[in-house]
Amino acid sequence: MPVFYASTSRGLSEALADELKSFDLKVGKVDKQGCSFEGPWADCAKANLRSRIATRISLPILDFPAYKVEELYDNVKKHDFTRYLTPKMTFSIKAKLNDCAITDQRILAMKVKDVIADQFNDKFGVRPSVDKKLPNVRFFIFGSKNEYRLSVDTSGHSLSQRGYRGETVEAPMREHVAAGLLRLSGWDMKTPLVDPMCGSGTLLIEAALMLKSVSPGTFHKKFSFQHFEHVPPELFDDEIEKVLAEEAEGPDIKLYGFDKVGLNLKAATANAEEAGVGHLIEFKKANAVTLEPPVADGMIVTNPPYGVRLGDEFFLEELYKDWAHNLKKNFSGWHVWMLSGDPKWTQFLRLKAEKRYPIDNGGVDCRWIHYRIK
Ligand SMILES: C[S@@+](CC[C@H](N)C(=O)[O-])C[C@H]1O[C@@H](n2cnc3c(N)ncnc32)[C@H](O)[C@@H]1O
Repeated sequence: MPVFYASTSRGLSEALADELKSFDLKVGKVDKQGCSFEGPWADCAKANLRSRIATRISLPILDFPAYKVEELYDNVKKHDFTRYLTPKMTFSIKAKLNDCAITDQRILAMKVKDVIADQFNDKFGVRPSVDKKLPNVRFFIFGSKNEYRLSVDTSGHSLSQRGYRGETVEAPMREHVAAGLLRLSGWDMKTPLVDPMCGSGTLLIEAALMLKSVSPGTFHKKFSFQHFEHVPPELFDDEIEKVLAEEAEGPDIKLYGFDKVGLNLKAATANAEEAGVGHLIEFKKANAVTLEPPVADGMIVTNPPYGVRLGDEFFLEELYKDWAHNLKKNFSGWHVWMLSGDPKWTQFLRLKAEKRYPIDNGGVDCRWIHYRIK
């Protein structure tokens, strides 16, 4: 049975493993970058279609030691690449090295490309071409301390990019991060959510897609595994049929997004419409520091600015102090989940954190923090 690997951002592996288990997938080892799961190809289709937290599903196809490029070539040659490619298709190879005797990543990628080219030339007299930007199939080779792993990508594009985000703002949150944070918050899908600094609205749009049971894979056109000749097309058709049949109007609760910048709200509204969830989210211009609760009972999920530009210092100190003041004044009893990119600002809230999860948000070491407002 194939053993697949689902990748995600650091800090979200456990949430991803939980999510995959909820689809009845047989999850194995969980590490910092994701988790493995074992199952038939239908499970690979399931994970690609349903996972909100994975960024990619790959299939490790070879593990071997190598100290020289010739050894590497001989090992890679053992695999039959005609399983994934035809001469008319395109492919790419991404190589990464960490503390290996072979030191040049470009040579590493070139050697794997040579194996594939030689294999096809020998068998068909023609070979598939390389397309670094939009290939039909991607291969990854990763070497660490002279141990190599070669994987084939089954997704084809980042699963995080649902495609509803035509409009964007400064520092938007990636879609899979938003979905992972919602899962970590333990949101019960009954409590209304409020994002007082919603930017392009990613947290709320992902929440609305959960409410409607819309699987993120339905936004994508074609997955790489659909090119593989040994994966029957009916298998994907069956899975997508099940996923589409599950879509529903869902619980009748509202989600509320606010931002002080009108342009950001315009982006959020357009994105929510594109995702088909515009009717579930109310976006309004407001200042978080004076905002009053739009509903009696709800939960705040938000990603306030944490600023990296010069001149932000004074503005951010004020923002965090004033926002905390407003939370204590108007949101007593509420649960607040906030993604913080810098503890320098969070300290100005003067709130006691109940929980803190380290999360990598686009390369920034963040914390997803839970506060209970007294
Ligand atoms: C880091 S961005 C949020 C990004 C968002 N999670 C997304 O996916 O696009 C922070 C947002 O807070 C907004 N903001 C800053 N100060 C605010 C305030 N006092 N009231 C309301 N919104 C504010 C900014 O306009 C910006 O859109």
